[in-house]
Amino acid sequence: MKPYQMLIDGEWVEARSKKTFDVMNPATDEVIAKVPDAGPEDVDHAVEAARRAFDEGWRDVTAQERGRILLRLAEKMRKELPRLAEIETLNSGKPIVESEFDLGDVATCFEYYGGLATKLHGEVLNVPDNALSMAIKEPLGVAGQIIPWNYPLLMAAWKLAPAICAGCSMVIKPAEQTPLTLLEFARFFEECGLPKGVVNVVTGFGETCGAPLVAHKNVDKIAFTGSMEVGKIIMRTAADTLKKVSLELGGKSPNIFFADADFEAAVDGALFGVFVNQGEVCSAGSRVLVERPIYKKMLDAMVEKAKRIKLGNGLDRATKMGPVVSKEQMERVMRYQEIGRKEAKLAAGGGRAKGEGLERGYFVEPTIFYDVDNSATIAREEIFGPVMAVIPFDKEEDALRIANDTPYGLAAAVWSRDIFKCFRMVKRLQAGIVWVNHMQPTYVEAPWGGYKMSGIGRELGPWGADEYLQVKQVHVNLNEAPIGWY
Ligand code: NAI
Ligand code: MG
Repeated sequence: MKPYQMLIDGEWVEARSKKTFDVMNPATDEVIAKVPDAGPEDVDHAVEAARRAFDEGWRDVTAQERGRILLRLAEKMRKELPRLAEIETLNSGKPIVESEFDLGDVATCFEYYGGLATKLHGEVLNVPDNALSMAIKEPLGVAGQIIPWNYPLLMAAWKLAPAICAGCSMVIKPAEQTPLTLLEFARFFEECGLPKGVVNVVTGFGETCGAPLVAHKNVDKIAFTGSMEVGKIIMRTAADTLKKVSLELGGKSPNIFFADADFEAAVDGALFGVFVNQGEVCSAGSRVLVERPIYKKMLDAMVEKAKRIKLGNGLDRATKMGPVVSKEQMERVMRYQEIGRKEAKLAAGGGRAKGEGLERGYFVEPTIFYDVDNSATIAREEIFGPVMAVIPFDKEEDALRIANDTPYGLAAAVWSRDIFKCFRMVKRLQAGIVWVNHMQPTYVEAPWGGYKMSGIGRELGPWGADEYLQVKQVHVNLNEAPIGWY
């Protein structure tokens, strides 16, 4: 079993306490690695290193050089993709085909921000005086980044790449369940020319490693993806030092099907929307709203296909759904399956998956509940597993009311051949991302983030870099004379 170290100030180190914790393979319930169990003293060490790196050199590295570092990281990622994809699957459970896809996106993310580095610039303003007025953008300083387990390296990339692009230094904490690919990726930093201390990786738990990072007085900004519950804690804690926060807190996203939608595409899109990556997707289309005329037919078609989804070890290329990430997550999903049985009607799945090769892993059945009322727990709370809640509706207005009746607002999708109806919906859906006749495609060029309680701020695109920048107003007086006031 592989013992890992973490990266602080360019050195591979253990936790100061020497403590470690086990990392599991969710497909087999076996320990696959040990990693340092970082505590507050390690966080202090990492933040000091990041501060020093920022103050003593990194802040003066040119945008062109930062861009080149990012491009080298992208190239290295592509070269090492097969090996890292295998580790991603071993550690997270997701099908290898999805790991390969995700890590391709990691490389694309570094490429995008590598190109953007030299295109970030301020503005010159037309103020009513003989003066030059400018708004210039500067890096915020030291960023703390807290990563979830559903897309381990991709969620890290969404935070690392824009922060390096903007010129920040950082301390990043992967989720305790899935630290391995980030630790592997961090081995590339030195040869790709990233100065020591610019990116520090600390492995640890939320309360002992994440929380001290959020509270740290020398950290200027926290970027977080994870649960709404922890998002609230982070915002409260960050108040003491008034640090900037960006939060991506998942959702209960509606996937809305009108009767005039392409039927085959609809069935496929509904299943993909909530079953891809075992349903462990922040933008999962976990509420499937179906117009009455096709309600029965679509439910039957979805059930038929869901029953044939091939579960198995993610390393098997035929696998379409792997285990969920941890025993804890499996138990959480199974609790919701139990709640669902009381609240609604069960059409498919409903428990832990059984079968050859599934005995030890954290496999749950692709599950479909129907005739779900939007007030039901399974329609209101994020489950983060392969559980679909199907809700019928009668009219466009009903679909909109049900879709927006949620504290969340990350994503929504609408399926119809009527362009007028689609755009009316697009305009009134309260979500940060709206798809028409598709669900889930995500591009580094386009903004990602939530309305309402799904979060604060936007990742990806130029918006992602802006989260790591602050604006300085500069006024240059061009009159060589006293103001003449006194
Ligand atoms: P979580 O929100 O507890 O964990 C996410 C990250 O936050 C991990 O790195 C964790 O170590 C860290 N963290 C936990 N407590 C912290 C604290 N007090 N201060 C600072 N950092 C802390 O998510 P968890 O418990 O793994 O999953 C619970 C539920 O959260 C899931 O069922 C799902 O509904 C939601 N979730 C949403 C995600 C998204 O993409 N929006 C990703 C992961 C989970
Ligand atoms: Mg938690």
